[in-house]
Amino acid sequence: MPVSHTAAMDEHPVLEVDSLAICYGKLEVCSDVSLNVRRGEALALIGESGSGKSVTVLAVTGLLGRGGAVTRGRIMLDGEEISRLSDRERRRRGLLGKRIGMIFQNPSRALDPVFTIGQQLNEAISLTGLSGKEALRRKGAEWLRHVGLPDPEEALDRYPHQLSGGQRQRAMIAIALASEPELLIADEPTTALDVTIQAQVLNLIRRLQRELNLALVIVTHDFGVVAAMADRVAVMYAGQVVETGTVANIINAPRHPYTRALLASLPTGVPGARIAALPGSVPSAVAMPTGCRFHPRCPIAIDRCSQETPQLESAAGGHQLRCLRAEEIARHV
Ligand SMILES: Nc1ncnc2c1ncn2[C@@H]1O[C@H](COP(=O)(O)OP(=O)(O)OP(=O)(O)O)[C@@H](O)[C@H]1O
Ligand SMILES: [Mg+2]
Repeated sequence: MPVSHTAAMDEHPVLEVDSLAICYGKLEVCSDVSLNVRRGEALALIGESGSGKSVTVLAVTGLLGRGGAVTRGRIMLDGEEISRLSDRERRRRGLLGKRIGMIFQNPSRALDPVFTIGQQLNEAISLTGLSGKEALRRKGAEWLRHVGLPDPEEALDRYPHQLSGGQRQRAMIAIALASEPELLIADEPTTALDVTIQAQVLNLIRRLQRELNLALVIVTHDFGVVAAMADRVAVMYAGQVVETGTVANIINAPRHPYTRALLASLPTGVPGARIAALPGSVPSAVAMPTGCRFHPRCPIAIDRCSQETPQLESAAGGHQLRCLRAEEIARHV
């Protein structure tokens, strides 16, 4: 009996988000987000500014901040529900910094200016059980070599401000991975970097994700990043997932009118950028359209679309689609 095969099939996703709703105070900023990522798989979360990508990953990491809360749905990490834990309980279970690694857009948010890179690496490495000054230093230097920092031994003794932007980002990636997390989350990890460095850092993240067989969620505005970095994509619009599928399927045969518009307009990757091919912008949580949230901007909307609320449903080609006209679209592709 092919035991390993059966075990692999039975293995639950590392991360499973199910019908998630998130509120800040009374304002619902995410209403229905479902996604999952398996070991060794990279999922890209894409959508316009304000669509809820960051708040979704912040809910996973427990960093929603003041007034933010999960109000419906579940977040399962390795089969364990984590969406409503207190900060204390999260720390006890090693949720952020140990089991979940996070790479931020801006490394200064993650790196502590008063500690050397080596000290910050040590803290992460000790979470794996390794101890002893020499062993930690050796392992720290190994991580810095792994992320391509020149002269890793010397870099261990540097403070964050003594590194370039690209080097700081590499150091942050080393620290995020040094605790050997199961899940790595990268929210727009390169938009703050020079264009020439962006590709290098993205390649580094993808290479490490594959080598370490990690589950990766990468948040981006940019289909170029999706194509280079991910196996599957979830497209978000106004606090909902509107389409999911493999990268090849979504890029070659997008179904949802929103995904099509996104692809047609090839967004720039600049945070806050609007989609040129679409009139209007993402509706705000205070004035959410009735029916399908995309209908006011949708080129193929019909009367029904302002009245009935579409659900995310399985569609042809392994996609999931939230569109009342999904069947008609399928007939025409
Ligand atoms: N701390 C907060 N308090 C109140 N509302 C918030 C907070 N953070 C985010 N929001 C709201 O939640 C919605 C989704 O924001 P989010 O940051 O997730 O968007 P995004 O898809 O990551 O956009 P971008 O591409 O610009 O990063 C927005 O309407 C935003 O105004
Ligand atoms: Mg964001």
